[in-house]
Amino acid sequence: MRNGEKSIYLALCDYDRVKRLLIIGIGAGDPDHLTFQGAKAIAAADAFLIVDKGETKHDLARLRHDLIAAHATGPYRVVQADDPERDRTTPAYTAAVADWRSRRAALYADFLRDDLTDGETGALLVWGDPGVYDSTLAALDEVAERVAFDYEVIPGITSIAALTARHRVGLTRVGRPVHVTTGRRLAAEGMPADDVLVMLDAHCSFTDADDDVHIYWGAYLGTPDEILISGRVADVADEIRAARATARADKGWIMDTYLLRREP
Ligand SMILES: C[S@@+](CC[C@H](N)C(=O)[O-])C[C@H]1O[C@@H](n2cnc3c(N)ncnc32)[C@H](O)[C@@H]1O
Repeated sequence: MRNGEKSIYLALCDYDRVKRLLIIGIGAGDPDHLTFQGAKAIAAADAFLIVDKGETKHDLARLRHDLIAAHATGPYRVVQADDPERDRTTPAYTAAVADWRSRRAALYADFLRDDLTDGETGALLVWGDPGVYDSTLAALDEVAERVAFDYEVIPGITSIAALTARHRVGLTRVGRPVHVTTGRRLAAEGMPADDVLVMLDAHCSFTDADDDVHIYWGAYLGTPDEILISGRVADVADEIRAARATARADKGWIMDTYLLRREP
């Protein structure tokens, strides 16, 4: 989009032949996380692509269907596709993610080519914000090599914002940086800063933290199943591990995020 140009869904008539895609951040689980901008974008879409993901599919797909039904203002179509399998056994993590992303790109290309007519607007509803640990934007770079289309990104409330708000703490301390990372990297590198926000951690990698480190942990943030635990890692690590294992066994999946903060 050129500077000063109106956003796609407010100026549909500007591009009446081009296929468009709206990448809509929907927030981290609470339907009320959807922004007004996100709601307007849903209302502007002719068709939605919903990609189902294994175990989590029923709950996460349900929120997407509910948001579409709540905010669509005219007729729309929903196209469903299964998420390509990712090889989680290989040590070549980056290559496995790149391969999975290419297969995701193929799904998006099919949607654009086969399910949208010229001038129509499609939408992808992305968990949290599309810019945080999400492959959609990178996959669309690959799609652009195969199909002509234009797209716009609508930001969403991240699980990071949901976590800090629910614990009533700031993400940043005055004049201090915060390091955002994955559980895999935390396990390999330890805490690279005094404030570390960790996502995508299947193994409770916080357990080696020093005595002066606090944790603000949250699972299923924004949903009726939300769990919040905070305290010195040394005091609450066992409680978090047990709560996580029980919840994961009960529901079949879990999404959790935490902030580690070294206290003065
Ligand atoms: C693939 S990333 C997607 C992040 C998302 N784009 C965002 O803006 O939050 C998935 C990770 O986000 C975190 N996450 C997403 N939703 C969450 C929620 N409702 N509660 C806790 N953590 C969540 C977890 O760390 C999960 O492993």
